[in-house]
Amino acid sequence: MGKTIIISNRLPVQLQISNGGITAIPSVGGLATGMKSVHSGGDSLWIGWSGLTDEEIPEELAPKIDEALAKHGSSKVKLTKNQVDGFYFGFSNRTIWPLFHYFLEYSEFELDYWNVYKDVNQKFADTILQNASDEDTIWIHDYQLMLVPQMVRNERPDISIGFFLHIPFPSFEIFRTLPWREEILEGLLGSDLIGFHTYDYERHFLSSVRRLLGLEVSFNDIYLDNRIIKVDSFPMGIDYKKFSNAAQEHSQKKPEKQSDLQQRLDKHKKSTPDGKFLLSIDRLDYSKGIAKRLNAFEYFLNKYPQYKEKVRLIILAVPSRSNVPQYQLLKKEVDELVGRINGELATVNWTPIWYFYRSLPFDSLIDLYTSCDIAWLTPLRDGMNLVAKEYVATRTDQTGVLILSEMAGSANEMNESLLINPNNFEQIADTLYTAINMPKEEQQARNKVLQKRLERYNVEKWANSFMSSLRAQKNLDAANI
Ligand code: UDP
Ligand code: G6P
Repeated sequence: MGKTIIISNRLPVQLQISNGGITAIPSVGGLATGMKSVHSGGDSLWIGWSGLTDEEIPEELAPKIDEALAKHGSSKVKLTKNQVDGFYFGFSNRTIWPLFHYFLEYSEFELDYWNVYKDVNQKFADTILQNASDEDTIWIHDYQLMLVPQMVRNERPDISIGFFLHIPFPSFEIFRTLPWREEILEGLLGSDLIGFHTYDYERHFLSSVRRLLGLEVSFNDIYLDNRIIKVDSFPMGIDYKKFSNAAQEHSQKKPEKQSDLQQRLDKHKKSTPDGKFLLSIDRLDYSKGIAKRLNAFEYFLNKYPQYKEKVRLIILAVPSRSNVPQYQLLKKEVDELVGRINGELATVNWTPIWYFYRSLPFDSLIDLYTSCDIAWLTPLRDGMNLVAKEYVATRTDQTGVLILSEMAGSANEMNESLLINPNNFEQIADTLYTAINMPKEEQQARNKVLQKRLERYNVEKWANSFMSSLRAQKNLDAANI
């Protein structure tokens, strides 16, 4: 049996040049954090972009790049600044990302971006072809690389190819607006197996295949020439043990051994024993509904003023795609909203919103997850949302309330959380009230069920079920020939 080759735009680490040397920092986002656990456990090679453009790499450091990536079982696809602009900031994040998250008005349909997207997808395919033997299994990830399956298939008709989309696949009525819709579908159909987080995304994809390409679709099989392509849903899990063990260790640490962040959180808790910490963690992305959440928080405080000076909202917004204008505008909007709400409502003893615009190391995430009484996640659209799962996994005593948008893929598996429509402020305010007042026994009963499910369907199980389905599909195909 050959090896598994994982391909995604982001590698598990991103390289940066500082003080004449190279540093590797962990990548953020669900794809990288989830696949990292899968990759570290097995014999796989991960191919992707290092995070540096060719122009940023001084000649003398070039060999060091390969060394730095090899330490993480990774190998790079080289990209120039123009390629990154057109492929990553352009087609991936100014066309596909907004369109697939139902932000049609943000989608730009630029022929130049599309052309660079095709070129860069070909570069990824070429790198795979250089590294893969016919026995290997190719697992391609996400919306940045939707043409790669067919590009690889053209050269290696018999190789096993799986594709997983980490973001929503939109309904046909949205997808049909894309000028290059047929090419994208044909690109994906180079795979043997195409996976989505939810059954709805799978259904939308099949409907587009049927209506735009006129292909025969039977249940979740697509018939194309002499091949059968299987489409299925595989909701991604988390590395449950990693989060629950870290939380366990954290709870056993003596107060003086805790981090500064934890000590500060504890100090505030002591000073307001009946206070509550609300937490939200997201990349600073318009799909995450951060601005709406801030407005909803203000609405809540006005509707239930008894919680002024009692409730604090901690917002961790991780910088993301800051070259894209919509993200710059969002940053400005969030900065202003936080400033205005804090300015209007804060008292000498109380700042309603604590806003951090940065990424935090794993240990600090654990401090936040374990210290906050309520996790409040309100994406307007989200392929999955792993933060919701991570929060629940760290609740060692099973207290804590998760308020989750029904527009997140994870809502499908987290029915025991409090599900809300992120556009309904009245419902959100009342749900916050319910969460703050939820009896401990009820919190524990809900989290018990959630934890059991998350532990069972963890990221390893997710990867294994995708891989065994891919193997079964390949065998079936071979038998048909
Ligand atoms: N995360 C991180 N550093 C941070 C904040 C978050 O690595 O400072 C991780 C978080 O633990 C989670 C991921 O980023 O695993 C976010 O994944 P999610 O599916 O919630 O959203 P995405 O960013 O993929 O849209
Ligand atoms: C989402 C996408 C990933 C992406 C991540 C972070 O999770 O599905 O493909 O890697 O966001 O975004 P970035 O643009 O920094 O890679």
